[in-house]
Amino acid sequence: MKVLGIETSCDETAAAVVEIRNDGQLKLLSSVVASSMDLHAAYGGVVPEIAARSHIEHMTPVIEGALRQTFDSDELQATSDEQTTQDSRLKTQDWYWDQIDAIAVTQGPGLGGSLLVGVTAARTLALVKKKPLYAINHVMAHPFAAFITSGIEGIKYPSEAPDFPMLSLIVSGGHSQLVLFKSHFEYKVLGRTRDDAIGEAFDKVAKILGLPYPGGPSIGKKAAEGDVAAHSFPDAKLDTPYDFSFSGLKTAVLRAAQAEIGKDHSFPSTKLAELLSDTQKANIAASFQQTALSTLVSKTALACNEFKPKSLVVAGGVAASPTLRQMLREKLEIEAVYPDMKLCTDNGAMIAALGCFMHHTDQKPADPYGLETSPSLSM
Ligand code: KG4
Ligand code: ZN
Repeated sequence: MKVLGIETSCDETAAAVVEIRNDGQLKLLSSVVASSMDLHAAYGGVVPEIAARSHIEHMTPVIEGALRQTFDSDELQATSDEQTTQDSRLKTQDWYWDQIDAIAVTQGPGLGGSLLVGVTAARTLALVKKKPLYAINHVMAHPFAAFITSGIEGIKYPSEAPDFPMLSLIVSGGHSQLVLFKSHFEYKVLGRTRDDAIGEAFDKVAKILGLPYPGGPSIGKKAAEGDVAAHSFPDAKLDTPYDFSFSGLKTAVLRAAQAEIGKDHSFPSTKLAELLSDTQKANIAASFQQTALSTLVSKTALACNEFKPKSLVVAGGVAASPTLRQMLREKLEIEAVYPDMKLCTDNGAMIAALGCFMHHTDQKPADPYGLETSPSLSM
């Protein structure tokens, strides 16, 4: 069975086809991602209107690209020279669609305008091509990228799918969650962020320090030149052990940056970067990164001790951090599984992967006439 996954929750327009075999193994047949990140870089964060407009431009070519990548290596390749007329192109498209068993689309959470583009495309295709449609929770889908164990070249796959119970640390620009999965669809959210997502904190701190967007990699690079002990930033004190909070840390960074140049709290954050020296920036970046990532590591370690999971999957853009990976390796007995970087950041494969399991277990499809976006959908 082959499922087409469509993802448009933030600034990536993505589509992918994943195949599920009878034994439940997943194979990635194609994955196409068009990002509008470059367009947002000038603003230091994602601009919703620009993202939505970019999805409209990219949606059709991205879906067509995913279908072509899936099937062009098949028998159609042999006859491709003859397929130059409009008529034969349409026939090829029909053949592609005959091979697709279902469509899965991100329903939420995400930016309203962005989600609308993907959901509208998926609803239309489900109706016209007569395919079952599955509504996917984007956050839940992130760790499902780790269930893909083979497929297209250029991606590193785990040798086997994670075992249950599976603990999942989902950390990106939009989410910070610890989730314990008993099975594919039975899970408990152990904790989530009360305010900013961790990636968002990296992006905001980068803006204060005048470092480029996205903040995760640029802070990581700057932090390598700094002293983690230069500043002692506070850990959020919460009454629930697995929840996160990063807004206090972000404010502490702002105050430290103001103090470094001898200014008080009224000094505008947008003017700090030009007055801070390289060393001051590196020290703040290093201390901030250390505090933010330590929180993730200590809560993950606590959950591992309490729930004794058989696997740990770390997913989302922040999972790219080499420092986070090293800290988890040093602190945990269990070895974390990371989907390939291409499948850690937003992609269509994780949406198709979860869609595969839904289709495989005969879950009720969504109504293609009625499916609405859900920008604040939670797990
Ligand atoms: O998963 P993702 O591509 O998109 C969302 O769903 O948000 O995650 C993007 C986030 C950004 O906030 C970015 O700063 C962060 O992931 N990120 C990193 C690193 N690479 C990306 N954070 C820390 N270290 C990194 N190396
Ligand atoms: Zn995401």
